[in-house]
Amino acid sequence: MAPTFYVVPGTAVKHAIENNRQRVFDSVETAYRLHGAGSTINPDSYFLRYPDRPNSRIIALPAHIGGEIQKSGIKWISSFPDNNASNLARASAALILNDGATGYPVACIEAALISSTRTAASAALAAEHISPAPFGGSLAVVGTGVIARTTIEWLIFRGWNFDSINLFDLDPSGSGQFAKWLKEEYDITAVTHRGLDEAISSSSLILFTTTALAPYVDDPNLFEHNPSVLHLSLRDISPKVILGCQNTVDDVDHCLKAGTSLHLAEMETGNRDFVAGTLVDVLENRFPLDRGRPRVFSPFGLGVLDLAVGDLVLKTAIESGDAVAFPDFFSNSTRW
Ligand SMILES: NC(=O)c1ccc[n+]([C@@H]2O[C@H](COP(=O)([O-])OP(=O)(O)OC[C@H]3O[C@@H](n4cnc5c(N)ncnc54)[C@H](O)[C@@H]3O)[C@@H](O)[C@H]2O)c1
Repeated sequence: MAPTFYVVPGTAVKHAIENNRQRVFDSVETAYRLHGAGSTINPDSYFLRYPDRPNSRIIALPAHIGGEIQKSGIKWISSFPDNNASNLARASAALILNDGATGYPVACIEAALISSTRTAASAALAAEHISPAPFGGSLAVVGTGVIARTTIEWLIFRGWNFDSINLFDLDPSGSGQFAKWLKEEYDITAVTHRGLDEAISSSSLILFTTTALAPYVDDPNLFEHNPSVLHLSLRDISPKVILGCQNTVDDVDHCLKAGTSLHLAEMETGNRDFVAGTLVDVLENRFPLDRGRPRVFSPFGLGVLDLAVGDLVLKTAIESGDAVAFPDFFSNSTRW
């Protein structure tokens, strides 16, 4: 019998994540550990780019995850930053999950939320482990959009309690909106800054979630207070600054591609010696945290994370009745 095919809409994904935050967080860590143990297949992402719209793209992330999950799949995620002008989110996505044994697709899941969730949960996981004094200090947010908002939700879920939050966005209305959201949602008063320097110079944890296409953080003095840095947007920090930091990645081969700051640093130096290791290496204490340097986590964003979170979301959405079943989707699957 061919499997029932499910569609999981965004509202169901939201319920599943909000009702299972700890399980989602654990699934992200499990995915990293399975990847570190070689129990995943995570080929290169495939970029569809538009010569006449260089800031837009759609990325395909095919992957397989083993262990107890045993799912394959592909996330197809668009990034159209011009959408923001009409209050439409930059990113939109669908995730197809395939059964690991038969290969049959078993679900199509709204995946912008899965993507932002796995990104934010992985950032929160990294923040706990690359910070000398986790769960406190001051936070700077550079680029106050959807990923920044989701990351703060996950940092707060994990127990961070910031002395202050400093915001900077090229679009001041964006940081103003973000400050309003922080006040309404968490009763936190954030400071919006007009310049990058003042936002980050005294912050112990710095979150980069911009849509910058090329590095603009070029002055090593900006990091002279040795902050922990979540470099989620990957192209903000110049190679010169990267070379002075202790760099952690999710996957070395993936992260040193596609014109990321680390890729540029590799092209400049001709080596990868500036990468200390992966997040799993940090979790396993395979190298010591360097308190005397800025510590930067740059995650390329592995498709296996989407599969792990997508699998959990599918299971809980089926249990709660939120997933829409199509029992006859594969109506022609009998071979003879
Ligand atoms: N590494 C990963 O796994 C991963 C996963 C998902 C998204 N991302 C990245 O996160 C970034 C943010 O995504 P989002 O959905 O929040 O986007 P968004 O469009 O909602 O927000 C981005 C914000 O950054 C601001 N910005 C752009 N350039 C800036 C600059 N130089 N300085 C300050 N602010 C600037 C924009 O004005 C905007 O408000 C994107 O680059 C995306 O590719 C990374």
